[in-house]
Amino acid sequence: MSQTSLTLDDNTERLPLVPLRDVVVFPYTMIPFVVGRRSSLLAVERALQGDKRIFLSTQRDAKIDDPKPEEINTIGTVANIVQSLKLPNGNIKLLVEGSARGRVHGLESVDGCLIAALTLIEVKAELTPDIETEMGKVVSLFEKYVKLSPNMPYETMISTIRVSEPGRLTDTIAAHLQVGIEEKQSLLETFNPIERLGLLTTMLDGEIEKLRVDRRIHQRVKKQMEKAQKEYYLNEKMKAIQQELGRKDDKLNEMEELKQRVQNAKMPKEANEKALQELKRLEVMPPVSAEATVSRNYLDWLLSVPWHKRSKEIRDLDFAEKVLNEDHHGLEKVKERIIEFLAVRRLVNHKTMKGSILCFVGPPGVGKTSLAQSIARSMGRKFVRVSLGGVRDEAEIRGHRRTYIGAFPGQVIQMMKKAGTKNPIFLLDEVDKMSMDFRGDPSSALLEVLDTEQNCSFLDHYLDTEFDLSQVMFICTANVLHPIPPALKDRMEVLRLAGYTLLEKEAIARRFLLPKQLKNHGLDPKKFDLEDGAIRDVIEKYTREAGVRNLEREIASICRKLARRVVKEGPEFSFTVRSEHISELLGVPRFRSPNVDKKPEVGVATGLAWTEVGGEILTTEATLMKGRGKLMLTGKLGDVMQESAQAALSFIRSRSSMLGIDDDFHRKFDIHIHVPEGAIPKDGPSAGITMATALASLLTKTPVRGDVAMTGEITLRGKVLPIGGVKEKVLAAHRLGVRTVILPRDNEKDLADVPDDVQKSLEFRLVDTMDEVLQIALERETAPKVDKEYDKDLNKGLPGSITH
Ligand SMILES: Nc1ncnc2c1ncn2[C@@H]1O[C@H](COP(=O)(O)OP(=O)(O)OP(=O)(O)O)[C@@H](O)[C@H]1O
Ligand SMILES: [Mg+2]
Repeated sequence: MSQTSLTLDDNTERLPLVPLRDVVVFPYTMIPFVVGRRSSLLAVERALQGDKRIFLSTQRDAKIDDPKPEEINTIGTVANIVQSLKLPNGNIKLLVEGSARGRVHGLESVDGCLIAALTLIEVKAELTPDIETEMGKVVSLFEKYVKLSPNMPYETMISTIRVSEPGRLTDTIAAHLQVGIEEKQSLLETFNPIERLGLLTTMLDGEIEKLRVDRRIHQRVKKQMEKAQKEYYLNEKMKAIQQELGRKDDKLNEMEELKQRVQNAKMPKEANEKALQELKRLEVMPPVSAEATVSRNYLDWLLSVPWHKRSKEIRDLDFAEKVLNEDHHGLEKVKERIIEFLAVRRLVNHKTMKGSILCFVGPPGVGKTSLAQSIARSMGRKFVRVSLGGVRDEAEIRGHRRTYIGAFPGQVIQMMKKAGTKNPIFLLDEVDKMSMDFRGDPSSALLEVLDTEQNCSFLDHYLDTEFDLSQVMFICTANVLHPIPPALKDRMEVLRLAGYTLLEKEAIARRFLLPKQLKNHGLDPKKFDLEDGAIRDVIEKYTREAGVRNLEREIASICRKLARRVVKEGPEFSFTVRSEHISELLGVPRFRSPNVDKKPEVGVATGLAWTEVGGEILTTEATLMKGRGKLMLTGKLGDVMQESAQAALSFIRSRSSMLGIDDDFHRKFDIHIHVPEGAIPKDGPSAGITMATALASLLTKTPVRGDVAMTGEITLRGKVLPIGGVKEKVLAAHRLGVRTVILPRDNEKDLADVPDDVQKSLEFRLVDTMDEVLQIALERETAPKVDKEYDKDLNKGLPGSITH
């Protein structure tokens, strides 16, 4: 553009010019901008004073502040000032609307502003179908363009679609295009709308492609960013959670600690491998899962059983004897055998020793458990106890496999953990009370535990690795021997504890039970005492037992009452319990004193029985009634006892003429034998001679001596065979005031076990045959001869005739 003096022809206009730095204004579009340059401000003011029209043309280089005429494009746009606002800094904000293109012919400077001489350029295009198609294309391209552009409001597009004139449409679109100034200028300089359509199409295509690439890149970047961000976020979150729970470090610590413990445990190889394997598994488990808990439990068990630790054993037999004597009164033979047992154990390799397991057999409260405790004390070993009463499942001994929910080791391993050493004294209480059912036989598991050749590799299902029990000393207790399986019995050294005599009980009460109970109840032994007579009363009137369990209980009960008095009367209270205080303290006597002077009776004989709770007296009654020789037996008699009743009856029949009994009695009468205390099951052959005696007495109408008690098995031919439990039976006889005891001769040797004081106060009659029994037990020396009246007597007097 050259600055010439303007000669204007008719369609030439003169308008103030504002050079634009970075925009191209198109006709038909509104645009706001701020004017700041001095010449431009003057130009604007001039326009505002005139018809508000202004010529806008873009300078070629935006950076130039004071462009020369040749630096301003000749093609620009005539615009109307719609709004103007003077800003505080002197600038003016304008809103203009382009109206038409103009070409500058010349420029002149008037009063500091540029005035352009220009011609308006107007090219109209015909609207043909082709152009319409072309327009549609551009519109749809523009639509795409708007959608792809990140910062183009959608309304922009709506406003363009409505335009139906090609020139106007292209200019509107061009105004919105975000392209460089040069491209825009070229659009402005393309006067023909049809040509502009073509140029726009190419430009839009290019722009859209650019935008697409942009968008793809953007999305990829965004995706990557998102991923990275997500990971970062999750990581942070996890850290926060773990920190919150304080677990991460815990887990590390825990694993470290467990590893350390496994190392220190010095387990056998197999167990060690198991532990390491489990550690590995635990490491990868989430720390709070159920699985981890199971795993941790298992490791805990592995680590807490005593693989190595053992008590230092005291090997001094004198010391052992001392301890046994300190803890227990009497029991001389048992103590002796314990000492012998310990001595042999020391000399012989106990693994090869037959009967290497002690088994205490005897009624309750005779000190079986406490003897075992004493043995532990005397050897300086730990003591653990398992009660096998009611154990019916193998798993109770050997544990459940770990696959079971809530599985844990069996009693053996549990107790080993409790003992904490590998050589404790292990008491298996009540082995006779173990039973068996479909879940497997516990006694077979026990067999393995007790077998010294097998128990060095005892396998608990839960631990699932071998554990060495060979240094454990097992002791069993039982009330009776017969329910114990023979294979088990075979491994045991049986020691019988029969029960105590009155004297022994008195001594035990004085020396052990009373001091112990006084101490338990916080009573000063100097202030409280029981006189001998009082102790005897408690034993005779309040207990009836072989052992001292109830005696201890009664003494405890007296102590409670005394303690109560102390609280009431003050700490100075002291008291000596005498016989006459007992019923006040313990209530009405539970048992009458032994009935020494029992009256002789017909058909009633006293037998001696042996039960789980010690010796007992069993009264056997027989009675006759009209009938056909039936034998009735009542009182819960077991098979063996029923058979021995039959045998007794057959024997009496075979002896009927000798005894003077009518041969035919069995055709005319039924016989009923009853053993009272019907609720208690009774069995065994040892009541044979008692039943025979009762029958003989009944049929001969001869009373049986009241102070005689007997025990013995009978054969059909009247032989008396030996029986078991002599000591228990004799003690019971003694306890209950019997004077004469009839025993099979073959049992004579057993009398050696009977304490002297009992031996002295009883008369023992050893017999071989039933005839001897009858001679001793029946009031008359010989059985009566049958007289004619016998039959009649029986017939008329029954059943009353049998009692005197
Ligand atoms: N000879 C004794 N000397 C001192 N105390 C004894 C004697 N016998 C038993 N005792 C005491 O009697 C109580 C019962 O004994 P313990 O528990 O050992 O009986 P048990 O034979 O194991 O009975 P159970 O068959 O019922 O288990 C204990 O307090 C024990 O100390
Ligand atoms: Mg016990």
